[in-house]
Amino acid sequence: MDRHLVADAERVVEDLGELNQRFRGKTVLLTGAAGFLGSQFVHYFLRLNETALVASRCRLMAWDSYARGLPGWMEALRGRSDLVWEQRDVCERASLGEVDFIVHAASIASPIYYRQHPIETMDANVLGLRHLLEHAVARPVEGFLCFSTSEIYGDPDPANIPTPETYRGFVSCTGPRACYDESKRFSETLCVNFWQVHHVPVTIVRPFNNYGPGLKISDRRVLPDLFRDVLDNRNPVLLSDGRATRTFCYVADAMKGYLRALLSDHRGEPFNIGTESPEISMHALAELVIQVSGKPLCVVFQGSDDPHYTTDNPQRRCPSIAKARELLGYRPTIDLPEGLERTWRYYLDHPVAAEG
Ligand SMILES: NC(=O)c1ccc[n+]([C@@H]2O[C@H](COP(=O)([O-])OP(=O)(O)OC[C@H]3O[C@@H](n4cnc5c(N)ncnc54)[C@H](O)[C@@H]3O)[C@@H](O)[C@H]2O)c1
Repeated sequence: MDRHLVADAERVVEDLGELNQRFRGKTVLLTGAAGFLGSQFVHYFLRLNETALVASRCRLMAWDSYARGLPGWMEALRGRSDLVWEQRDVCERASLGEVDFIVHAASIASPIYYRQHPIETMDANVLGLRHLLEHAVARPVEGFLCFSTSEIYGDPDPANIPTPETYRGFVSCTGPRACYDESKRFSETLCVNFWQVHHVPVTIVRPFNNYGPGLKISDRRVLPDLFRDVLDNRNPVLLSDGRATRTFCYVADAMKGYLRALLSDHRGEPFNIGTESPEISMHALAELVIQVSGKPLCVVFQGSDDPHYTTDNPQRRCPSIAKARELLGYRPTIDLPEGLERTWRYYLDHPVAAEG
């Protein structure tokens, strides 16, 4: 198994403590298993079986359409009896037998790719989710986790930063990012109503910019793009004025929040999962990446060929995580310099990944 992903999984197992036992002997369906967050969930469950659940392992059904390719880390997991891979498109209705927990993480998440595949993106978030929720009506599950996004807030007004879950958002329903933002918003509406009408025990998480091991260098989100430049000894390029700000959450920290949400009793509710600080500009982030690499490079600003590259791009994104802290006991601990250092070491070991 990949040593970086195993190290992250061990942190998550340690943080969850007794909660890990809730997966004893259970079957978990994970959609989007070949993706970034999928890589973290797969390694968490497998490491859990090797450590805390040795006598009564859980079984992981890992679904992915491989719309974004086959990840390199899959090869090392072949032949494991506690992991069943299936090539499945969640938009196609299929019977899936008895499962105890469902984690729906299938959706194209990288803006460049969801804009290339807008219909598929909407379908995974709406149609695919609906199939899974209907399954959970017919065959009740113990927990259901739905991945929404911080993008449901759109470009928040400054009075709502840090953004609490109660903020309703400022979002275009027809702009270039709408296929993602609006289908995620509707996915939350589906979840809330399946909870209220059918008591499907679904909890919604809104991730704020995760990064770290498992996020392939060719993903085209900002951090892999910056790391790819410095790995190739090129000056990192920003396709904007670099002034937009974000907070970045190391993925093993975010995983603690996702699993706590899956196991919580707060159903039909959304939780922001991320970090509140530092809220950093893209320019400062690029400088930090250079610093972590130790290379004599400098940031370059360049216009994008795509006229809509920055259209509807939020100027600021920073969550309030008070609700997750209070109700889930969620505590991110890895600061940005340490997270970037770990990510840099991961990319040094994985400098190449298939495009797509
Ligand atoms: N990583 C983040 O920072 C972040 C931020 C906000 C929201 N999210 C949400 O979290 C979830 C996981 O994100 P990620 O970063 O792992 O994304 P990712 O793009 O790395 O992985 C998503 C996976 O879903 C698969 N997929 C797409 N459509 C599918 C379909 N119809 N059927 C089956 N599989 C399909 C893809 O092949 C891919 O392997 C997504 O719902 C995303 O919108 C993530």
